[in-house]
Amino acid sequence: MKKILVTGGLGYIGSHTVVELQNSGYQVIIVDNLSNSSLDVLEGITNISKTPPAFERLDLRFKADVSDFFKRNNDIDGIIHFAASKAVGESVENPLLYYENNLNTLIYLLQECNTHEIENFIFSSSCTVYGEPDSLPITEVAPVKPATSPYGNTKQISEEILKDTCSISALKAIALRYFNPIGAHESAEIGELPAGIPQNLVPFITQTAAGVREQLSVFGDDYPTEDGSCIRDYIHVVDLAKAHVIALERLLSEKNDTSAPLSNPNFEVFNLGTGRGSSVLEVVNSFEKTTGEKLNYKIVDRRPGDVISVYADTKKANKVLGWKAEKTMEDALKSAWKWELKVRSGR
Ligand code: NAD
Ligand code: UD1
Repeated sequence: MKKILVTGGLGYIGSHTVVELQNSGYQVIIVDNLSNSSLDVLEGITNISKTPPAFERLDLRFKADVSDFFKRNNDIDGIIHFAASKAVGESVENPLLYYENNLNTLIYLLQECNTHEIENFIFSSSCTVYGEPDSLPITEVAPVKPATSPYGNTKQISEEILKDTCSISALKAIALRYFNPIGAHESAEIGELPAGIPQNLVPFITQTAAGVREQLSVFGDDYPTEDGSCIRDYIHVVDLAKAHVIALERLLSEKNDTSAPLSNPNFEVFNLGTGRGSSVLEVVNSFEKTTGEKLNYKIVDRRPGDVISVYADTKKANKVLGWKAEKTMEDALKSAWKWELKVRSGR
């Protein structure tokens, strides 16, 4: 049984990935500092998989603690690194927090990979690295645009750190560029738990429908899109989680693309999206239709920094990984709503 370290495994995407890893027969050890998650998530995971994952509370910003962890756990076969800070606005206000938490943690982990000969590493990147794309759908060879926030910059720098490390060591890494993850596990045992006022669309929608927020603001209806609102590629978090298991299997079976005409075949990037773009108003309508809930919303000014339209070309992930998003927008919104109702009922 391969042992996989999942950093940030109590968070939104990490917890869903832990379940999929367990379902696929992996032994999982989670580390998390609980800065954006809670211990209840362990119970949710265990209720689904019937196997409690090993867990250690660890803050990856403390190098000595990270070293100590790896000394005590010297049988790790691979790492999936989710732990990071992820609020774009907060990163503008407190860039050093973001550079410290998102870059130091990666560096410390990679140093331990070197010391303990761990060769398999999966990293959570983001479609934010593409900025406002020149053409759609976006392929992995599209240029990485100057970052518009310290958060986005940490993802770009992290990819560079990984690429450089892979080129001089035995490390094989895959950076997965997520588009917009939404939804929850269908059991409603785990889901997204935004701290404070949600910044992302779907949690804001479900909280508005649940009466926690008075009104959803739709940021702009004067964009050059069909209905005037922005377009994104919303991907069900369970589909996203499954892609991590497939990417891990690719690393473990050493199928990395050594024939690629790159100086660095041991570092690969994949888009993870559905390939379909949906506008904000389409998401709102779909939510109302799927759940039967009427949503109180109004159109307001554009949100500064928003890109107009972003959706993935998924051919590389489809072909090379053999992975494809299977769930629909309706599946995702239904599960997000079920999760919201469960959270509101006190779990
Ligand atoms: P999340 O905040 O729900 O999960 C991150 C987890 O990491 C949390 O449980 C948090 O407590 C933990 N963590 C943070 N700093 C830590 C540290 N120093 N030591 C140990 N644990 C720490 O976020 P998520 O949505 O699950 O995102 C996971 C990853 O995916 C992040 O790297 C994020 O940047 C990336 N990503 C997320 C999205 C998205 O929309 N959710 C999109 C693109 C990329
Ligand atoms: C944002 C981040 C991105 C990050 C992602 C996941 C920016 C510029 N990008 O993506 O880096 O990876 O979150 O954390 O911040 N919307 C509304 N009303 C709301 C909330 C959102 O209309 O209350 C609209 C937005 O204008 C956007 C769409 O919904 O068009 C999706 O927004 P959001 O969920 O915040 O994701 P992104 O902005 O795509």
